[in-house]
Amino acid sequence: METSPRPAIVTTIADLRWAVGAARKDQKRIGFVPTMGALHEGHLSLVRASQAECQYTVVSIYVNPAQFGPKEDFARYPRTLQADLEKLAGVGADLAFCPSDAEVYPVGFSTWVEVEGVAEPLEGQCRPGHFRGVATVVLKLLNMVQPDVAYFGQKDYQQALVIRRMVADLNVPVEVRVCPTVREPDGLAMSSRNSYLSPQGRQKALVLWKSLQLAAELVRQAERDAATIIARMRQTILTVEDAQIDYIALVDPETLAPVEKITAPVLAALAIRIEGTRLIDNCLLEP
Ligand code: PAF
Repeated sequence: METSPRPAIVTTIADLRWAVGAARKDQKRIGFVPTMGALHEGHLSLVRASQAECQYTVVSIYVNPAQFGPKEDFARYPRTLQADLEKLAGVGADLAFCPSDAEVYPVGFSTWVEVEGVAEPLEGQCRPGHFRGVATVVLKLLNMVQPDVAYFGQKDYQQALVIRRMVADLNVPVEVRVCPTVREPDGLAMSSRNSYLSPQGRQKALVLWKSLQLAAELVRQAERDAATIIARMRQTILTVEDAQIDYIALVDPETLAPVEKITAPVLAALAIRIEGTRLIDNCLLEP
């Protein structure tokens, strides 16, 4: 029997709904992986997680202008659609949804989702409007696809918290899964923005993971004072020439409120600029 090529590609919400509706009619559980393309192993691990528990996996590829600030990298964000589709074919994703800007934000668009609380510190402070753009597009995509389960990476820990909050607050009928960060063999968290780095910058970027490992080691050695750990992380980062620190924080993993003494698991999170490229990473520290 001949099977149709995978992934099928749709660009309109009408075609998307038709394809997903057919899968649902076949009693398939629908998994959804929202992406901005420039796919790497991190994204593919989300597709595999979806395939492990769903019978039909939709991947969206859309560089969402609303989540980039005016001085950010929207214009030069990597757009590698052909390579992305080949990677999705390689893992056997069922449907790629690649909408245009006009499909997502038609003329007259004027409704925004603003999550308070967990969206405010860290990334929220450094990138005003970022989570408004993320929450809005993710809610729209969830409404378009109507999946049973949606998959996000832990590398964007705060984003995942913001989406969980939005889904709970707005009664969105979807299960949210957060999957582990995928790292290069040397520890660098996979990110589409790593492609901006020169070979030297790529080496320098290892300092994010190195400082997170140092934090974990200090906690293992019974250090409980957050300020001490942050100071040691800062020292490590500043061994790298030209590294600029946006923030280094130890926070409550649920509320993202700063922690002073480590008596329960805390999230270590940081945002560092290397060669002007803004990189983020995080890990949970367990006392
Ligand atoms: O994590 C991302 O790539 C984006 O923020 C998302 C969730 C696809 C929304 O544009």
